[in-house]
Amino acid sequence: MKKYKLGFIGYGNMAKAIIGGILKSGMLDKSQIATSDPMCKDAGGILCVDDNDYVANNCEYLVLSVKPQVFKSIDFKCSADCVISIMAGIDRAYIANKLGMQDKVIRVMPNTPAQVGKGAAAIAAEGLDKKHADFCLAIFESVGTAYFIPEEKFDAVTCVSGSGPAYAYYFVKAMIDGGVANGLDKEISKELTIATVIGACEMIKANPDTPIEQLISNVCSKGGTTIEAVNVFENNNTDRIIIDAMNACRKRSEELRAGK
Ligand SMILES: NC(=O)c1ccc[n+]([C@@H]2O[C@H](COP(=O)([O-])OP(=O)(O)OC[C@H]3O[C@@H](n4cnc5c(N)ncnc54)[C@H](OP(=O)(O)O)[C@@H]3O)[C@@H](O)[C@H]2O)c1
Repeated sequence: MKKYKLGFIGYGNMAKAIIGGILKSGMLDKSQIATSDPMCKDAGGILCVDDNDYVANNCEYLVLSVKPQVFKSIDFKCSADCVISIMAGIDRAYIANKLGMQDKVIRVMPNTPAQVGKGAAAIAAEGLDKKHADFCLAIFESVGTAYFIPEEKFDAVTCVSGSGPAYAYYFVKAMIDGGVANGLDKEISKELTIATVIGACEMIKANPDTPIEQLISNVCSKGGTTIEAVNVFENNNTDRIIIDAMNACRKRSEELRAGK
């Protein structure tokens, strides 16, 4: 029986976000979590030590939440039952090999909105004990939504949810600028844009059987205003531009995996 249920190597932004979600959900309490980080002084009542070996050998589940280049440069022994890596671009085989933990490594690709409890995570847990996979799912559901997706699809996941927040920020920024260009105060334009984008996404979720094309045409009455804007998107092949951008992202993810 290990002293802690969950340990973290690296107590940075993502570890803090995940721990925040776990505590808020009531899944674990502070006494069940341990972290290791060289600069850690205060982890809000959670054990934080500058000792990776201690944490890696005293917890049931170990989350690798350091930067990928840090993980490649450090050495520690690990006797956890299961290792959960959130590191971008390092595959399960590399981690299993480095830690000598065959068939015990889960890889997760979270995204930055996890920091506000609205993340979208992909979990690769093929071949693992269901109990471990389900515990990992519960962790990432405490900071948003999470889905089991085979590791071979992670380049595609990168170009959708991994990098996706930046695409959404880009679109939102352009809309805010458009509001300002048409005479709105910047703060008002920002508030209206944010509420509109969140509201539109909620509409998509609330109408799962309605094709998105239908939702678009529902607000595009003939001779009206919205159709004029949508026509500009269509005439400029905006969907093609978005797909091209995502293809470039996926290609770079493949290159990074190949060490380029
Ligand atoms: N941020 C995201 O939204 C996001 C999304 C997907 C995946 N990820 C992955 O999540 C991981 C963590 O990202 P992050 O944004 O949380 O990074 P971060 O804020 O830099 O956190 C990493 C922490 O590890 C500490 N650290 C450095 N060397 C260490 C060592 N030898 N032993 C233990 N801890 C050490 C760092 O301390 P110092 O700051 O003092 O160096 C820092 O506190 C990365 O692998 C990243 O690829 C992040």
